[in-house]
Amino acid sequence: MDTKTLMEWSAKYHTPNYGRTPLVLVRGEGTRVWDSDGKEYLDFTTGIAVTGLGHCHPVVTGAIREAAATLLHVSNIFHNAPQVHLAKLLVEHSFADRVFFCNSGAEANEAALKVVRKYAKENLATDRYEVIATNNSFHGRTLATVSATGQPKYHHGFEPLMPGFKHVPYNDLRAMERAMDSHTAAILVEPLQGEGGVNIPDDGYLPGLRKLCDESGALLVFDEVQTGVGRTGKLWAYEHSGVEPDVMTLAKALANGIPIGAMLCRERVASALTAGSHGSTFAGSAFVTSVALATLTTVIGDKLPQRAAERGRELMDGLRTLQKTQPVIKEVRGLGLLIGVELTKPAAPVMDACRDAGLLVLTAGEKVVRLAPPLIVDSADCKRALDILGSALSAGAK
Ligand SMILES: Cc1ncc(COP(=O)(O)O)c(C=O)c1O
Repeated sequence: MDTKTLMEWSAKYHTPNYGRTPLVLVRGEGTRVWDSDGKEYLDFTTGIAVTGLGHCHPVVTGAIREAAATLLHVSNIFHNAPQVHLAKLLVEHSFADRVFFCNSGAEANEAALKVVRKYAKENLATDRYEVIATNNSFHGRTLATVSATGQPKYHHGFEPLMPGFKHVPYNDLRAMERAMDSHTAAILVEPLQGEGGVNIPDDGYLPGLRKLCDESGALLVFDEVQTGVGRTGKLWAYEHSGVEPDVMTLAKALANGIPIGAMLCRERVASALTAGSHGSTFAGSAFVTSVALATLTTVIGDKLPQRAAERGRELMDGLRTLQKTQPVIKEVRGLGLLIGVELTKPAAPVMDACRDAGLLVLTAGEKVVRLAPPLIVDSADCKRALDILGSALSAGAK
């Protein structure tokens, strides 16, 4: 099938909800992908922070092959060994005591929202159901998670939204404190906002939220769907803050591209999820948990968070050097390999120019170019990305 026909059929047969780049990607290996014309690209999008180990990592491919030939799926009315091993590994390497598996980031947040409501009603007060989230946040596309999301552009047309959510400015402890009342069941935040523009809070923000929750009995939920699994230079982004949440959600990079989500929580919170109270058909299948187990074991064993921190520093140093000659760069911010380059002009044309020159990057909001390379990226690829981005920025400045 030729590329032109594929794109015509895509436009004809898909619902039109994605603004797609005019590329058909056919193959990936490590930090590279190739399009249907054979053109090679350096992939600094990683499926939006998903393929942390790069494309077709041999350990992941091996786990997929083996799991596919052993056991794909059995219901959660039975036990399956890889699911148990993955839960144990997650618990051993995080604050959490218990894990609930699901299939996406939105579902992980749905599970978190359900568990905090049930926990608060049963343990605090029957009218404690409200979740306070933040402006510019992103938590998913289901009706509950889109209601939790603090960006009106994702709400339009889907109203009435789910009741039980409030939004306050991100990184504003006083606003959070003012918003909390006798109905507050939980605070839900990203330790650093990804989709909202790669926004990093002040050092005191997450500890301050922890304190507010401790004082009021509300639960602290960190959405680490984008920031988890090594992306920010620690296994979990909350480790930068010195405080731990009561609930954490994961998805994206956990199985390097095979759909999975997870909601991790403390024992007392988990106890609200009594038998039959929540579940999912596909969740935590032997297949996906085998792949996640291989992924997480590699991320931890190969010390990839540390590597992400080092490469992230190199990239950010390079971007700040670029900023000196490129006044179009307003600010460079990031943690590890989740980096935002805020421009004084729209980011989309820069993204397009990078693509034409062989580098795939993301945007986050209108004016932020977002870089999310795989954790395995090396210094030479970072240098190449900086060269391409620099040229794209100077071409646009003329
Ligand atoms: C922080 C955060 N939470 C939740 C989600 C939703 O995840 P999914 O698209 O897997 O439902 C995303 C997706 O970008 C995200 O970045």
